[in-house]
Amino acid sequence: MSIQEGVRLVSQGPIAVVELDLVGEKVNKLSTPVLMRFKELLGQIAQSSTYKAVVIISRKPKNFVAGADIEEIKRITSKEECRKILEAAHSIFNALEDLPIPTIAAINGACLGGGCELVLACDYRICSDAKETKIGLPETKLGIFPGFGGTIRLPRIVGLQAALDIILAGKSVDGRKALKIGLVDESLPAQMLETRAMSIAQEVVAGKKGKRKKRFKARSTVEKIMDSPLGRPLVFHQARKMLLGQTKGFYPAPVKALEVVQKTYGSSSRAKSLDIEMAGFCEVAVTPVSKHLIDLFFMMEAIKKQTGVTGDVKAKPVSHMAVLGAGTMGGGIAQLAADNNIDVRMKDISNEALALGYKAASDIWSKELSRKKLTKYDMDRKMSLISGTLDFSGFGQIDLVVEAIVEDMEIKKKVIAETAKNCRPDTIIATNTSSLSVSEMSKGHPHPENFLGMHFFNPVHRMPLVEVIRGEKTSDEATATVFELSKRMGKTPVVVKDGPGFLVNRLLMPYMIEAMFLLEDGMEIGTVDRYFTHKFGMPMGPFRLMDEVGLDVCVKVVKIFHKALGDRIQVPAVAEKLTTIGRLGKKNGRGFYLYDERGKELSVDKGIYKELGLNSPTNKLSEKECIERCVFVMINEASLALIEDHIVDRPHEVDLAMIMGTGFPPFRGGLLKYADSLGSKYIASELEVYATQAGLRLKPTQPLVNMAKTDRKFYS
Ligand SMILES: NC(=O)c1ccc[n+]([C@@H]2O[C@H](COP(=O)([O-])OP(=O)(O)OC[C@H]3O[C@@H](n4cnc5c(N)ncnc54)[C@H](O)[C@@H]3O)[C@@H](O)[C@H]2O)c1
Repeated sequence: MSIQEGVRLVSQGPIAVVELDLVGEKVNKLSTPVLMRFKELLGQIAQSSTYKAVVIISRKPKNFVAGADIEEIKRITSKEECRKILEAAHSIFNALEDLPIPTIAAINGACLGGGCELVLACDYRICSDAKETKIGLPETKLGIFPGFGGTIRLPRIVGLQAALDIILAGKSVDGRKALKIGLVDESLPAQMLETRAMSIAQEVVAGKKGKRKKRFKARSTVEKIMDSPLGRPLVFHQARKMLLGQTKGFYPAPVKALEVVQKTYGSSSRAKSLDIEMAGFCEVAVTPVSKHLIDLFFMMEAIKKQTGVTGDVKAKPVSHMAVLGAGTMGGGIAQLAADNNIDVRMKDISNEALALGYKAASDIWSKELSRKKLTKYDMDRKMSLISGTLDFSGFGQIDLVVEAIVEDMEIKKKVIAETAKNCRPDTIIATNTSSLSVSEMSKGHPHPENFLGMHFFNPVHRMPLVEVIRGEKTSDEATATVFELSKRMGKTPVVVKDGPGFLVNRLLMPYMIEAMFLLEDGMEIGTVDRYFTHKFGMPMGPFRLMDEVGLDVCVKVVKIFHKALGDRIQVPAVAEKLTTIGRLGKKNGRGFYLYDERGKELSVDKGIYKELGLNSPTNKLSEKECIERCVFVMINEASLALIEDHIVDRPHEVDLAMIMGTGFPPFRGGLLKYADSLGSKYIASELEVYATQAGLRLKPTQPLVNMAKTDRKFYS
């Protein structure tokens, strides 16, 4: 009954209005039962002689159709099963396209994936110009591609280039862009959408408009050339080159989608084209890459519903924020707060430092302005939300303070105590420290229950993770408040327990240390980095990463870790040397790589081997050994952090944090999914072999040894 209600046919004389409003769901999704119901209605419409036009509209306020049911796609394990689902969907979308009477889709809100494919099978598409309206095909982000005819119909409507832009990158467009590329016929204010859809239907009834097959017509000379038999191969060649450059071949879906478009564009046989699309789709839908990307999607969706605590504790509202320190992190955090419409006060110890904070924010928005992603009006409005101060004026109305001053426990404790004195007793103070104990620091706060960690990553506006660190006395309310605030700032929060390096840095540091040992073992810097980017899929290799972080910072943290975690963390001789040769990394243009004045990487600095007292590299270690040593050492540390220290409680939190905080390849599903794909037995036995040379730092930890006995997985 509820499906019948959720997809219903409302007769308005000769116009059949199909209303979508799934009962008990926030958004409309095209699950199999929904599609079946849709088919039933199409049958009724086709058989009736009353109807002359069909209008399809959603009754959800900000959603047309969010897409196909991803749960169903996740469950597909065989190509045969996949084929059955697609064949059923194709028959419905074809029936829609083949209806003898014209169909008009009225789109307001998200019209994505299967939703977009549905409207592509209609004769007319109009949309609202509301900011919620997004029309597109995000499938490649889930390791699949449009399989309900999207790769066939979209290029025919908007042309090859615009279609590839959307399909390959999994993009969506707003109403304005949709109109520009010819994806919709009209874009108009939301209040007028339904009236306009009905008036188009009336025009149909009056015989002024009829059935049509909208075909792309090149407008400019360039478009004409690119769409000609001569130009098309060039478009495909460029798209393929760009794809392989971006994905390095790790993501099969967009490559397959391109292949499908190439084989079907211009074909006159819909049946053959859909068959090609179906075969390609079924190939990618069963890959582990797709399953991992879908899991990641669900993890992100789950965060949206979580509060960061168990039980019914509400986050406190935050309308006024303050940031202590207007440096690299403080400036970034202030920009992010204002960008999300939060009033933020930046405090530093000099006007020069404050000016740098303002400049950092303004630089980010200026870039958006030049890319037309922001208007001058909005930029000025956001800028006006940031105010600067050298004292605590205005702190009486602050709800939450983020501390981002120098990394020194005593200074931080003092500043926190002083800040607390100038704030209300219920003001929450969060530290952005990356290596100091949150519980220890909370001793500076008269109300330690209102103190915790809010660890952003650098650069703040780009890195999606925030570690929410609970100290020993942190209250649930403070945790929930920072968790909610992180989400409001567009970040993915993960709650972690206090401990050296919290979660992400604790796992990342052994990886960087191991890379330094590879260097000592005769490996070349560029070779190791390339193994990680081109063979493993990290966004950057460990040496490039250390240059980004700053070599002085890395060496300092290595030593802190050695002190905190014991001999398992060994300080490489190279690290000791690094501090004495004036190489700070990207920030002073000299690290493992050389950089120009604008920070652009030039090349590996060949002189560094000698400066570090190393022989010329011989690259004697295999790619396998390099990758395994650096990655397994993270898995080893993760087993302790998860199983023994309970820094987080579940393996998926490790995976989410590593993907969001370090760019660990999403197609591998995260560090522990990757570990499970190899098996704990294999990892432990390889580590044993490496440890015969390296000693304790590569010895499998007790939790990993225990797992290896029965080849147990992290995700059991
Ligand atoms: N830089 C990173 O990559 C990174 C990443 C995550 C976390 N962190 C952490 O963030 C914090 C800040 O790091 P950063 O890189 O932004 O440092 P930074 O040196 O760029 O900025 C620190 C700012 O704090 C100001 N300051 C010093 N004492 C102050 C005081 N008493 N009151 C107000 N302002 C004061 C300084 O003038 C400076 O502007 C540190 O705890 C660091 O560990 C840094």
